[in-house]
Amino acid sequence: MNGVANLSLAGKTAVGEIAFIDLKAQQRRIRARIEARLGAVLDHGRYIAGPEIEELEALLAERTGAAAAVACASGTAALIIPLLAAGVEDGDAVFIPAFSYNATANAVLLTGATPVFVDIDPATFNMDPADLEARIGEVKRDGRLKPAAVIPVDLFGSPADYRAIGAIARREGLFLLADGAQGFGGRLDGRWVGDLAPATATSFFPGKALGAYGDAGAILSQDPGVVERWMSIRWHGTDAARKNSVCVGFNGRMDSFQAAVLLEKLAIFDDELEARAHVASIYDRRLSAIARPQKHLAGAQSGFGYYSLRLPRRDAVAQDLKARGVPTAVYYATPLHKMPAFERYAPARPLPATEAVASDILSLPMHPYLTPDQVHYICDCIEAAVG
Ligand SMILES: Cc1ncc(COP(=O)(O)O)c(C=O)c1O
Repeated sequence: MNGVANLSLAGKTAVGEIAFIDLKAQQRRIRARIEARLGAVLDHGRYIAGPEIEELEALLAERTGAAAAVACASGTAALIIPLLAAGVEDGDAVFIPAFSYNATANAVLLTGATPVFVDIDPATFNMDPADLEARIGEVKRDGRLKPAAVIPVDLFGSPADYRAIGAIARREGLFLLADGAQGFGGRLDGRWVGDLAPATATSFFPGKALGAYGDAGAILSQDPGVVERWMSIRWHGTDAARKNSVCVGFNGRMDSFQAAVLLEKLAIFDDELEARAHVASIYDRRLSAIARPQKHLAGAQSGFGYYSLRLPRRDAVAQDLKARGVPTAVYYATPLHKMPAFERYAPARPLPATEAVASDILSLPMHPYLTPDQVHYICDCIEAAVG
């Protein structure tokens, strides 16, 4: 989900303008510090591989508990690089949830491997470990593809079931890559997204909980040994001197300006995370009786990049909310296995939870600068619309 349109979605109401994602309020808070950081980049002139990159990588590793971090050009680059480094290629099966942003499937296909769509849990909206086991069994029996990797997605910021999926990956010898593009700031059993799988890709697309002012992403690793390879792939596959190509790579780098912005945004991230959790707690309290908000695993805290729920008459409710000045979004109306680019990989049997959730999911305004009055106004509108 890039939510490109939704960065500017806002409606006027009696409790002020309600934005789906409010980047302006955040900018007002830290603009002077961001300008100083950007000014420092203009002064040193190292627009690529400036000192901000290493500073950011160290901070990302420190705050997530990961052994190392590698800054990337985007969340998509952060998915492709570890897959290439793990040797994922043509003839391999990579298991991904059918309910995700298209980048998860694209990253697999760009390595030459084949995506195998796995159903989700209808309450958490994340990959269902039991269906993963079933799909692995099918691929093995069929014999045409080699099970190679699994990519759970932390949908809307809620950590996937790494306990169960990690155990399956270890038993089956699968490379476990977390798609934490939406997951930064989430926790499971006291550990942060970034330290829940051997490798985690995250996105700093502007609309994400931690967003840059352009495209950016990062890979986090539990094993510092892989980082050299990731850094090489990120820089056209070159050696440390950046002269000879030692493997296939591409331009997967983050630029110094984006790292500068992210460093200032990281300084207020914990505070923003708390504010997001507070907004979610009001939504949960007010809406659980009339809708089905996303459930989180026991022991998990969502980073609440998004707040999503299942509710009856979704499209009519969304229209009604729009008329009352409340912007909403549908992530995702079409599951991956039904999209033209991916339908040839659709499984023979249905994905009932994915299809059910796609039919009634709705994302509500979520950002740290929503006032309690605004959140209550949104809940009042939903109550009125649901009837
Ligand atoms: C689940 C998921 N994976 C991957 C990506 C790709 O991230 P980026 O847009 O930074 O390439 C996104 C971005 O929206 C996403 O939501």
